[in-house]
Order: sequence, then structure tokens, then C-alpha cells
Amino acid sequence: MSAGGPLPAALRLGAAALLAAALLAGVHALTRGPIAAAERRAALDALGIVLPARTYDNDPLADTVDVQAPAWLGRGHARLQRARLRGGPAALVLPVTAPDGYGGPIDLLVAVDAGGRILGVRVTAHRETPGLGDDIDARRSDWITRFTGRALGDPPEDRWAVRRDGGDFDQFAGATVTPRAVVEAVQRALGFVRAHGEAVWSAPAGSRQRFDDAPPAPAAPPAEAADAPTDEGVRR
Ligand SMILES: Cc1cc2nc3c(=O)[nH]c(=O)nc-3n(C[C@H](O)[C@H](O)[C@H](O)COP(=O)(O)O)c2cc1C
Repeated sequence: MSAGGPLPAALRLGAAALLAAALLAGVHALTRGPIAAAERRAALDALGIVLPARTYDNDPLADTVDVQAPAWLGRGHARLQRARLRGGPAALVLPVTAPDGYGGPIDLLVAVDAGGRILGVRVTAHRETPGLGDDIDARRSDWITRFTGRALGDPPEDRWAVRRDGGDFDQFAGATVTPRAVVEAVQRALGFVRAHGEAVWSAPAGSRQRFDDAPPAPAAPPAEAADAPTDEGVRR
């Protein structure tokens, strides 16, 4: 066997592999911190859009409860964030999905204050048709901001619907499916907070909670409202 035979070659290969692994581990260690910081900044930016920074003084990203309440929140798993001010409850931030958008599920972030009033709603992901259903996106129109300040009972329960269905929220020209799905999802999120908010607030941070009950079905629209298409309440 010569000095340049199979054993030294295998050793050289092994050494190269070890060196590569060490380099990768080094790069990972160096970038882990900055990546985590960037992720945290992005999460705080997203939170800031629905939850004004002046409304809380804790770290909502660290004060979370993992909730399984698919019938209420439209998704299998939702990590709820709890915002507190001087130790007291300030707001819950809920990731919510409207499962029945025109193009598929519509993801939302909904912030609800301790009195059950909406602080902000934003669409975080959707596949609605550009020019028809995408006015739910805050970059396209201010439609989604109309939820701010609303609560269950304001408007009354049977008016939590698009105008076409006898409710208080505008639909879009030629596109009722999308805004209807969003209105219903936001109303369900408020219903969840009313039914289970206390349980969420009293759960230990980082815990998992499961809620298997379901919200009441939305009231059927009045026949005359559903049958008679009109321009009233259409946002162009
Ligand atoms: C190609 C295509 C894309 C559509 N995209 C949407 C949409 O994104 N959102 C929506 O609500 N309706 C969309 N619609 C219209 C719906 O099929 C439905 O007619 C409408 O939502 C009902 O609203 P209207 O009662 O005001 O007509 C689309 C229709 C077509 C043909």
C-alpha cells in the first residue's frame, strides 16, 4: 500500500467533512442571534399594525397562549398574544382565518381590547381576485379599518353582515363573497373573546388550551335584503 493509497484519501475526505461541518456550525452560531432579532422585529411590526404600542407595556410575544378552537378561529391552531398595561389585561391579539373566502382561506390578525372592542384588524394572507375581492387588503383600500372601535352589540348582532345581507358593512362591486367571509370571521373572533377570553387570560403563559364548542350559526339574511341586489352599500 503506498502513502497516497485509499486510507489517506479517506482521512482527507473525513477531515474536509469535519472542517465543513465546523464552518457551518460557526456560521449558524454567528447568524442565529441576528436572525432571531430580525424575526422578533417583524413580529412586533405586524403586532404594531393592529395594536398601538401605547396600549401595553409587557412583551406580548412572550405572553402567549396556544389555542385550539377551530370552530371559532377558523384554523387548527392559533397562538394568541396577551398585551398588558401596568399588569392588567389590555388586549388579546388573535390570528384568525376566514375559511370561506372566494379564492381560499383569508388570514387575519384581530386585536380586541379588554372591553371587547376591536383595536385593529388586518389581512395577513389571502388569494382573493385582484380588482374584485382584494379591497380587504389595507394596501388597496381602507375597508378593513371600518372594524376598528366595533364590538359585539355595536353594531347589533344581526347587523354584523354586509349590507347586501342586511348588515352594516359595505360589500364590493361584484364581490360579496370576500367581505362576507371577513365580517363573519371577525364577528366569530369577538364571540370567542366573549365566550373564552377569561379562560385565555387566566391560562399560564405558554400553555395550550382547547375549546371544542362552536359559535352560534350566523342569522340568515332577511329575504328582501338577500333577494334584491342594489347599489346601496357597494364600495367602488
Ligand atoms: C373570475 C372571477 C373571480 C371572482 N373573484 C371574486 C372575489 O375575489 N371575491 C368575491 O367576493 N367575488 C368574486 N367573484 C364574484 C363571485 O363569484 C360572486 O358573484 C360575488 O361575490 C357575488 O357578489 P354580488 O352578489 O355582488 O354579485 C369572482 C367572479 C369571477 C367570475
